[in-house]
Amino acid sequence: MPCTVILGAQFGDEGKGKVVDYYSKDADVIVRYQGGCNAGHTIVFGGQVFKLHLIPSGVFYGKRLIIGNGVVLDLETLSKEIDDLNPKIEKLDLLISNRTHITLPFHKELDGIEESFRGKSKIGTTKRGIGPTYTDKVARCGLRIVDLLDNEVLDKKLSETIMIKNRILKNVFESKTQISKKEILAYCIKHREKIKDYVGDASVELNNAIKQDKNVLFEGAQGTLLDIDHGTYPFVTSSNPTIGGVFTGSGIGPKHIDKIIGVMKGYITRVGGGPMTSEMGKVIGERTREKGKEFGATTGRPRRCGWLDAVILRYAVRLNSLNGIAITKLDVLGGLNKVKVCTSYKINGKTLEEFPASLKILEKCEPVYEEFDGWEDLSEEEWMEIVKKGYYALPKEMRDYLKKVEEIAGVPIFLISLGPDREATISIKEIFDH
Ligand code: GDP
Ligand code: IMO
Ligand code: MG
Repeated sequence: MPCTVILGAQFGDEGKGKVVDYYSKDADVIVRYQGGCNAGHTIVFGGQVFKLHLIPSGVFYGKRLIIGNGVVLDLETLSKEIDDLNPKIEKLDLLISNRTHITLPFHKELDGIEESFRGKSKIGTTKRGIGPTYTDKVARCGLRIVDLLDNEVLDKKLSETIMIKNRILKNVFESKTQISKKEILAYCIKHREKIKDYVGDASVELNNAIKQDKNVLFEGAQGTLLDIDHGTYPFVTSSNPTIGGVFTGSGIGPKHIDKIIGVMKGYITRVGGGPMTSEMGKVIGERTREKGKEFGATTGRPRRCGWLDAVILRYAVRLNSLNGIAITKLDVLGGLNKVKVCTSYKINGKTLEEFPASLKILEKCEPVYEEFDGWEDLSEEEWMEIVKKGYYALPKEMRDYLKKVEEIAGVPIFLISLGPDREATISIKEIFDH
C-alpha cells in the first residue's frame, strides 16, 4: 500500500510544497484532492523559487500529476500556471478529473462582495472564489469539467446559474454589475482549449496505479485548523484539508493509505482572521515574520506568528490519524534565548486540553506556556553543513525541542526542514519502501 498523504497540521503554509517536492523524487503519482488557487505552495531548488497554486508539487520531478474531483479549478490560473511552467520543465504529465468543479470569474467577484458585506466579521479570504465555488457545488448548480467539454450542457448550465447569480447580485447585494453569459461562455471556450487534453477519470487511473503498486503522494492544501468541519469555523476555508478530503476528493478508499504525515512549522502562523491563542507578542512576532519571510505565497499578506501550540498539534494528530510529522522552519527560531510551547489553554481558571468547538470559548482561552532553551542563529550555509552531517549534528537545544514535539504528538518525526531549499532537509524515516 504505497500511498502517503502529506497534509497541513496547522493553519496552512506549513511548508507542504517543500515536503511534497522532497518526497516526489520517489513517488510515481502526486494528487491534489481539495482547495483551489487559494493555495500557494513554494518550492526552492537550484537558486530558483517556484510558487504553485493548482499544479501538484511533484511537477519538477516530471511525475504523473492528478488534480482530483475535490479541487475547485480556476481555469485562468491553471492556464497561466501551465504557460509559466512549460519552459521550465521537461514535460507536464497532468490529469484533471472530469468531475472537478470550476471557479468562474463571477465566483471571485462574489467572494469579494460577500467579504465586503461581512464588514467587521470578514473572514479574510484569499478572494479566489473558493467559498462561492464550493457553495455552488453543494447547492448542485456548479459547473464541472465534464460540462465544460459539452457545448449543449455548458450553454444550459451557464444560462441557469448566471440567471440566478444576476438576481442575487441585483436584489441581494444591490450591485449594478451583471454577469454577461456571452463573456463567460467565451471565457470557458478559450480556456478549455488549453486543458481539454488533460481531462479524464482520475479515480479509475488512481486505483489502477495503486493496483500496480505505484508510489502515490496526496498533497493537501490549507491545513487542519482551516478545515470546514474541524477548523476554527467560520474562519476556515470551504473544503476538507483533513484526511477525509483525500477520499471524497480523489475517488479512492481509505484502505489504500499507508502513511499520513502532518506538516507543521516549529511555530505557527495564520493569515486572515480568526483566533490564535498562542500569538506571539509584537517584537518576537515581527522578528519571526521577517526572519521566516512570513508573507502569503498567494496574496502577499503578512502572516500572524505564534508559539507552537500543543493543543492544536494533538488535535491534528487525532483528527487525521497522523503516523508522523514533518517539521519545518526551526532555523527561523534560531537566536532566541528561550522558545515557548503552549501546552494547554486556561479558561476561567480551568485547564482545557482539547481544542474547543466554540469560537467564543476559544477567544477567551489563555495560553499556558512551557519554556525551552533556544538554539543558535546560523546562516543558511551553516545549517546546510549540519544537514549534511545529520540529526545528531543539530544543536542539543533543538533536539530537546524536537523530543518535546514528539512527546506531545505521540508520533515520530519523519522529516526536519532547516531552510527553504530542497537540500536543506534531514530525513529521519522513509515514507516509501522504494
Ligand atoms: P505551503 O503552503 O504549506 O506549501 O507553504 P508556503 O509555501 O505557503 O510557505 C512556506 C514558506 O516557508 C515558503 O516560503 C517556503 O519556501 C519556506 N520554507 C519551507 N520550509 C522552510 C524551512 O525549513 N526553513 C525556512 N526558513 N523556510 C522554509
Ligand atoms: P496553503 O495551501 C494559509 C485562509 C485564508 C482565509 C481562509 C479562507 O498555501 O497552505 P479562502 O480563500 O480559502 O476562502 O480563505 O483560509 N487560507 C489559507 N491560509 N494557507 C493557505 O493555503 C490558505 N488557503 C486559504 O487566508 O483566512
Ligand atoms: Mg501556502
